[in-house]
Amino acid sequence: MKEIIIEAKLTVYDNLDALSEDIIALMDQAAIARKNSYSPYSKFSVGAAILLDNNEIVLGSNQENASYPSGLCAERTAIYYAGSQYPDAKILKMAIIAGSRIHQTITPIPPCGACRQAIAEYEVKQNADIEIYFMGESGKVVKSHSLANLLPLGFDKSVL
Ligand code: THU
Repeated sequence: MKEIIIEAKLTVYDNLDALSEDIIALMDQAAIARKNSYSPYSKFSVGAAILLDNNEIVLGSNQENASYPSGLCAERTAIYYAGSQYPDAKILKMAIIAGSRIHQTITPIPPCGACRQAIAEYEVKQNADIEIYFMGESGKVVKSHSLANLLPLGFDKSVL
């Protein structure tokens, strides 16, 4: 028998201004995308912005449905758009901003498990890390140097 300890390293910034200009600009784009959230059921708006190595920025927001499971998170909306529109571009960074429209959200909102799985696929596809930045409507920003860092024991093609 042996125990395995898996560690994740995150960097927490006090606020967005503590980050570099390119990340502030990417998060600003995520905030713009968030305005297009269609979330009449949860009233929880999420925006995501992806920077590609061809300098394109791809945006996504959560899109809900009266049949709840048919909706899609902002992160997957954005990454599937990137994958379908720019299949040969590498995904460098993703910024995520999220919050409730009912109460204030000042804690950083991490991507859900399904979105982590979806983003992880693109790290495998491109054989390169994707930096992830996430925050609430204001306050602290969390950086992960890769998606795999947020998804220990991930399932990928190596087991198929
Ligand atoms: N949501 C996202 O867009 N991204 C996540 O990572 C977590 C949740 C959306 C889905 C749904 O529209 C709303 O937030 C509440 O769960």
